[in-house]
Amino acid sequence: MTEFQDVLDFVERETGFATSYYDESYLDRRVSARMRRRGVDDYADYLELLRTDDAEERSELLDTLSVNVTQFFRDEKVWGALEDVLLDTADEVRSVDIWSAACADGREPYSIAMLALDAGLDPRNVDILATDIDEDALSRARAGRYESTRTADISEQLDFLDDPSQYVDHDGDGGFVVADHVKDLVTFERHDLITDDPKSGFDLVACRNVCIYIDKQYKLPILDTVSQSLREGGHLVLGQTETLPGDVKERFEAADPRIRIYRRVSDD
Ligand SMILES: C[S@@+](CC[C@H](N)C(=O)[O-])C[C@H]1O[C@@H](n2cnc3c(N)ncnc32)[C@H](O)[C@@H]1O
Repeated sequence: MTEFQDVLDFVERETGFATSYYDESYLDRRVSARMRRRGVDDYADYLELLRTDDAEERSELLDTLSVNVTQFFRDEKVWGALEDVLLDTADEVRSVDIWSAACADGREPYSIAMLALDAGLDPRNVDILATDIDEDALSRARAGRYESTRTADISEQLDFLDDPSQYVDHDGDGGFVVADHVKDLVTFERHDLITDDPKSGFDLVACRNVCIYIDKQYKLPILDTVSQSLREGGHLVLGQTETLPGDVKERFEAADPRIRIYRRVSDD
């Protein structure tokens, strides 16, 4: 396993990708997939390839390791419940502050913005902060242009909305571009959920499908950061296979446990 560790150390040193945050078996599956692809069957040879391959394999490996997989309106059943949370919050507070933490290429925060507009919230009173650790994903998010692929059909993802054409335009090259009045609700910024400070006062935080890839020891710091960033009474939504660890759980009650929506009840 030390040769595998040498590969990880090399990646961390040369690319800045923090391998030490990630679950080891997850990393092994990804590295092994690249090794099969290049016809290499031991870690030492793969490390040699990474060293000598003129940055090509390094970039391929980095792409494989950074899981930016996302969708518009991912896990459709969550979004009806989130609409209720937004409407209730808008009744309670003047301006609804939302954080999409680990937003990947922006489809999650844009879905939240579209949902808020569709629910009739006043756009002047909706602020969405969207953050990720990955600068490339953030650049794609700011551009707000998405293309269907063999496995991801954008118009199907937008089917959750009665009339998606209010929120996206076609750019003539087969791409969908998020309309300016949707983009205007979202600000993108780099933030590392493990090492950067918590934020404060949010009414709703979405932290979905990041903890599933992260090494166990970092789940608590991540969920501690997001929970501290919520005001009392604010809501947290996790990914559909994620749960709150013991220490953090005490700060929440389940608003809708089937779809992983929690309400912050205590302020400590
Ligand atoms: C699978 S995507 C989830 C995107 C979206 N939340 C969703 O559920 O569709 C996971 C994202 O977490 C980001 N990420 C990984 N480690 C992170 C960290 N320490 N801080 C912030 N974001 C991180 C990755 O860059 C990636 O964009």
